[in-house]
This record gives sequence, C-alpha cells and structure tokens, in this order.
Amino acid sequence: MSDVVTVRIQDQIALVEINNPPVNATGIAVRLGLLEAVKQAESANAKAAIIYCAGKTFVAGGDISEFGKPPQEPHLPDVYQTIEDSSVPWIAATHGTTLGGGFELAMACDFRLGQQGTRYALPEVNLGLIPGAGGSQRLPRLIGIEAAVELATTGQMIDAQKLYDLGGLDLVFDGDPVEAGIAFAANLPTALSPLSQRTPAKVDSAYFETKRAQIIKKAKGQSSPLDNLQAIEWAATMPFSAGQPKERELHLALRDSAQSKALRHAFFSERAVGKPKAIEGGTPLEVNKIVVVGGGLMGAGIAFAALNAGYQVTLIERDQEAADAGKERIEGLIAGGIKRGKISDAKAASLRSSLIASDDYASSANADLAIEAVFEDLGVKQQVFQSLAAHMREDAILATNTSYIDPTQIFEGISNPSRFIGLHFFSPAHIMKLLEIVKLPSTSTDVLATGFVLGKKLRKVGVLSGICDGFIGNRILSAYRRQADYLLMDGCTPTQIDSAMRAFGMPMGPYELQDLTGLQISWANRKRQAPTRAKDERYVRIGDLLCEAERFGQRSQKGWYAYIDGDRKPHEDQYVTDVILSEAKTAGVERQEFTDQMIVDRLMAVMINEGALIVEEGVAERDLDVDLVKIHGYGFPRWRGGPMHYGDEVGIHNVKSSMEDVIAQSPNSWTLSERLK
Ligand code: COA
Repeated sequence: MSDVVTVRIQDQIALVEINNPPVNATGIAVRLGLLEAVKQAESANAKAAIIYCAGKTFVAGGDISEFGKPPQEPHLPDVYQTIEDSSVPWIAATHGTTLGGGFELAMACDFRLGQQGTRYALPEVNLGLIPGAGGSQRLPRLIGIEAAVELATTGQMIDAQKLYDLGGLDLVFDGDPVEAGIAFAANLPTALSPLSQRTPAKVDSAYFETKRAQIIKKAKGQSSPLDNLQAIEWAATMPFSAGQPKERELHLALRDSAQSKALRHAFFSERAVGKPKAIEGGTPLEVNKIVVVGGGLMGAGIAFAALNAGYQVTLIERDQEAADAGKERIEGLIAGGIKRGKISDAKAASLRSSLIASDDYASSANADLAIEAVFEDLGVKQQVFQSLAAHMREDAILATNTSYIDPTQIFEGISNPSRFIGLHFFSPAHIMKLLEIVKLPSTSTDVLATGFVLGKKLRKVGVLSGICDGFIGNRILSAYRRQADYLLMDGCTPTQIDSAMRAFGMPMGPYELQDLTGLQISWANRKRQAPTRAKDERYVRIGDLLCEAERFGQRSQKGWYAYIDGDRKPHEDQYVTDVILSEAKTAGVERQEFTDQMIVDRLMAVMINEGALIVEEGVAERDLDVDLVKIHGYGFPRWRGGPMHYGDEVGIHNVKSSMEDVIAQSPNSWTLSERLK
C-alpha cells in the first residue's frame, strides 16, 4: 500500500486519494501509487473510481524537482494511459489548482468534475517545457485546437466555469469533491470514447502559420511557446498514438535545455527569495495603516498598491494643494483600473474610502508604518522623518524609498533605530514587481520580516538587500552602463549595443532605455559619485555632454537618439555620432570593431562580476537574490535565469575570460570578484 495514494472501497466505489504535500505533485511515489490504485479498483470490480486530493489543491503538476534527474519508471504518460485503459470508469474530482500533470491526470479520466473556482492550466510553457504526459494531445481533443493553443502557449489559468463552457468539465460543483464524486457516480452517464481516441475538430488551414508568426513576435526569444504550438499541431495532424510519443520525446529533450533550466531556476528562486536567513526567527508585526509621504508618481503608485492590498492609507504632502494633486493621481490610477475592468465600482468605492490625503503630519499619529517617497535629497528626507517621528508611535516602522542615499544617514537622530528599513520600489510602483527590502545594521529581525510580509501582500517580489551605492539593482545597472560607455568610446554605436542586447533578450538596450527614462538621472548619479570615484578609473563624458546640450531623452525629443514628433521610434543622430568620435579622438582611442557577441559577453561579464561582488560583500545573501532583482526590476529575460544563473550556464571560466578582456580594455576601472579570480 502506498503512503501517498490510498484506496478505500465504499459501496463498490473506489475512493482514490492522493496526499503528497505541498501540492500533490506526481513524483515517483504518486506514480507507483496510482498504478497500484488502478489494480485495486479493478480487482474490487468497482463501479467507478473517484480520484481526488487531500489538502488545498488537486495535483498541481509533475514534480519539478525531479526534472533535473533521469526520469524513473513508471513514467507519467504510461500511468495515465493505464488509467484511461482501465475497465473501471474514472472520475476526477478536482479542486484548487489543477495544473500540468494534474490537468493531464483529469484528462486521462472518463469524467471531470470541478469545484467552483478551481483553476486549470498547462503551465509547462512557463518552465520552458511542453506537457509530458499527453496534455498537448488530449487537450485539443477535449476543448478544441484554438482554445488548447491559447492555454498551452501562454500557461494562462482558467476557472472551472470557463473550462465547463469550453466543454472540458462534466460538472461544476459546490462543496466537497468526494461527495460530489459519489453523487455523480450514483447516476453515471455513459462515457464518451477516451480522449486519446477522439479526433479534434479541424481548424482553418492557415491557422498554425498565422499563430506561429504571432507567437514569435511576442515570445522575445523564449522558445517554449512555439514548442507548445508545435505539439498541438501534432495533435491536429496525427493520431494520438503518433503524437503522444513525439510530445514525450520533446518534453524530455526540453528538460535538459538551457531555457528550461533557467526558467526552473527562476521558479524555485521565487519560492526561496522570501526566506532569507536574515529573517529567521523574526515575527512579522501587524500593519493595518500606512502613511505614504510624497504624492508624486512614486508615492501615488505605492499608495495605490497599498490600497489595493487592503491597507488604510494616509498620503502626506507638504501643503494641501500637493496633497490634493497626489490624491488626484491615485484617483487616476483607480479610474484606469475601472476602465480596464480590473476594479469594480464597489472596490473603487472601498479604495477611496480607505484613503486620506493631508498636509498635516499629525494625521500619521496612529499609523503602523510610514513609507517616505519624496525628492531624492538627504535634507528633505531627514526633515520628513523628523516630522513623522514627532507624531508616530515609538515602535511604528519607518521606511525610506531612497534609490541611492545611505538610509543610515537619512534616519540620523531618530529614536529606536530597530524600526528603520528601506523599501525600494520601482516605477511605476503599482506595476513593477520588484521591491528591494533594505536592511540597515540596526533593523530588527521582526521589522525585516514585516517588510517581507508587506511585499507579499503588495504582490511584489521582495528581495533582501544590504546597503551599498544603488543597492543591488542600480549598482549593477551602473556597472552595465559604464561598460556600455567604454564600448561606445572604443568602437560601437548606441544602435549596435542596443540591438545586440535586444537580441540577447533584453526588452531594450541601455541607450534606448536611458532615452525612455531620461538621461538626467544617471547624469546626477555620476556627479554624485565624482568625489569618491577612483582617480585612475576611466571616465566617459559622452552622456554628460549630451545632457549639457539638453538632450535628455524622449521627453526632450533627443537624447542618445533623435525622435520625430509624436513618435517613440529612435533614429540614429549624426550629432551623437560626432560627439562619440570626437571624444574618442580627444582621448586618443583607436576605435575597433566589436561583434554583437563581444558586446554581449563583455556587458554580461561586468553584470556577473558586480553581482558576485555584491554577494561577496554580503549585500545580497545569495545569487538568486541578484537574479530576481534583475528579472523583476530590469527586464532581464526570465528564460536566461538572471545574470548569475546565466554566468553558471556559460561557465565561470568563460565569464572570467570576458572580464579579462573588459579589464584590458579599461585598466584600473574594475574590481575583479573573488569568484572570478
Ligand atoms: N513540483 C515540485 N514542487 C512544487 C511544485 C511542483 N510542480 N509546485 C509547487 N511546488 C512547491 C514549491 O516549490 C513550494 O515549496 P517550498 O514550500 O519548499 O518553497 C511549495 O510547493 C508551495 O508552492 P508555492 O508556489 O509557494 O505555493 P502557492 O500556494 O503560492 O502556489 C501553485 C501553488 C501550485 C499554484 C504554484 O506552486 C505553482 O504554480 N506551481 C507550479 C505548477 C506547475 O508549473 N506545474 C507544472 C509542472 S510541469
């Protein structure tokens, strides 16, 4: 008898329970248990077998942690085929999240019942895979080719009602899955032929070609959406007996692919990121009421995210006019949500009633947490915290959203340093997933743990960072930009660098991105860093010269590129080329050719090296923290797994060799990490 799959025969019905926490994944023990269950149900001559799961979900997939190892018998597709071929009618009584291998299990059964609200998906695409146990072959036979393509190529979840409407469920029920299964078995309808023996309805002959072109455009280098389309095309064009082995073969091959490894790394990193060592033993404090100081773009975004997460929010500005403007901004975000159908009228009313905008710090008195999001100026920020500390409880948490200023300085002179923390949001704060949770030397474990709970409630990926210039994300960005500028001086153009990095998978290259966000920010940073910059570090002035010529990017119609009225498309600009050439000439640089590969290798090497330094200094606890910062805050392609994972994938020796090229190109300008040494 299996530990994780148990069978009870009750009134000639086999009740088959899977109990394999946390998510009832189909690891080896479940597969063995299911085969045994089929035998038991058959030898008991059961009228029907009901398969259901203990805990909060039906099977949520294959066991991803087994994917790195050679597959062990019995294989999942064979187990499911045994269920489909069984002489006993099988009923899947699903609840929770019925994903991947779970959805495939339900499709191998004769009948599918879904608890109201259950969600279904084939999320393999998000792990760089295609289904491996018949999912891509049975789903089109269940709900039609087009609906199957939508699900398999996006990993999108649909709820029980939607699946029922698509013809994928026999019943949507309220209440207990076992009871629903027993009631259904009492009046068992005649089963249709098993899915593997059905033929999916034909689609238009041009369908797959058109879809393929659409997917290539959207996938930005990720190959699994196309692989899933391919698998469904097999279902559309060949019998199950031919399509299923092809699906399995591709699934197994993809498990070893770099993209799947990277996506699995991202998946497990997202589960580990919220559990850094630094919060061990911490008890999160209760937070109900939040004060946000600053009603600009950032403050309004933070306030809106907090309102959406169910917090009471007080927005404080320096005068009533600014407070009203902040409130207006938040109102705009609420209106946008209503327009896109994301916020109901009732929800909007509750958000509005949870918001107060004021110019009086006394209104912060009973808040549990204050987040400062004002102008990036030490004096202004210090003033804000003095005003807050004068009114708030001694134990209320004080958080700064600074991007660059050392938080220790910001909080100087304020009592109870254990309550200080940095909460670094990314703009627009209600959309961007990343939240750097900054630990000061004085931050208590409880306060830090509270930061992580808050991040989760705000639906952010909270990453722990220590203090350094730019924290994890902007520090790596600054190294990346510096190296890009060296390449610019030594032979490249902005277009060449941007297009090489886009081909690598970045949504934008470094120069088009600066044009979008504005050149002033990095200009100000370079000025700020000037006094502490090592004397012999190579310094490229091109960006400064563009700013001095008032070329600040898209908003001023020119920056690294020129923009034509009302158009966001960058055009190469002779002015910029002239500045580059003249700077190179003045510096006595002999410009050389760089291939796209050389550009990528060098830019990636500095990112990886900087990430390694950040971990070595203890600013980040783990490589995975660095990876998630770049994926969720800077558009680093998820299917590359983040810079540190990418470094492991290409091999540390290759990264080292690129870093040596970087150092030879600009001596005295880089610190080599211990890891690369
Ligand atoms: N295989 C192995 N472990 C899995 C898993 C899977 N398919 N799905 C989830 N887990 C683990 C997680 O790693 C986590 O482990 P931890 O507690 O040690 O960190 C635990 O189960 C809980 O998962 P978590 O995501 O934190 O819980 P949740 O309730 O927020 O979400 C799911 C549950 C099922 C929606 C989510 O985990 C999920 O999407 N899983 C992947 C499903 C999938 O891709 N299936 C197809 C595989 S081919």
